[in-house]
Amino acid sequence: MAILKVARIGHPVVRETARPVPAAEIQGAAFQRLVDDMVETMHEYDGVGLAAPQIHVGWRLAVIEILPTDERAEDGVPVTVLVNPKLTPLGKRRARGIEGCLSVPGFRGVVARHERVKLEALDRHGKPWSVEAHGFFARVIQHECDHLDGRVYLDRMEGLRSLAYQEEFDRFGAQEAVDDEE
Ligand code: NI
Repeated sequence: MAILKVARIGHPVVRETARPVPAAEIQGAAFQRLVDDMVETMHEYDGVGLAAPQIHVGWRLAVIEILPTDERAEDGVPVTVLVNPKLTPLGKRRARGIEGCLSVPGFRGVVARHERVKLEALDRHGKPWSVEAHGFFARVIQHECDHLDGRVYLDRMEGLRSLAYQEEFDRFGAQEAVDDEE
């Protein structure tokens, strides 16, 4: 396994629309190694998710893991692999919450996201799976799926007033209303 270099905003790959992972690739050793390396890279940087474009691979692929100890989430989510995901918002309700991104290191900002979503995807072996998610898990799903369309959370902010360096955020908290959702 290997820790991969994370592309930051300004690198064109972060802004490109990723292509579906071809079915023929999924069973291959190279793809399985890529998934393992993405999980290891996510762990190395203490991320809750990582999308393939962030490690310079233009495929519709992301990994998510939320530790049970994560205060932002009601429940933990084990390592979850999203191959060619399809996202459907459920209901109209949105919630504001804090986001950060390994491609925008050192910053935090307030983003409004759909409170509930349905996710349909393939797992790392090509088997279809789906989940209805809410709260922080739904937020992470939306954040990672955005990466596959070349979007980062900055694009989803209602304004830049809540953008903060991590250090100042830790000292002073969010400079904008955050819904009490979790
Ligand atoms: Ni991100």
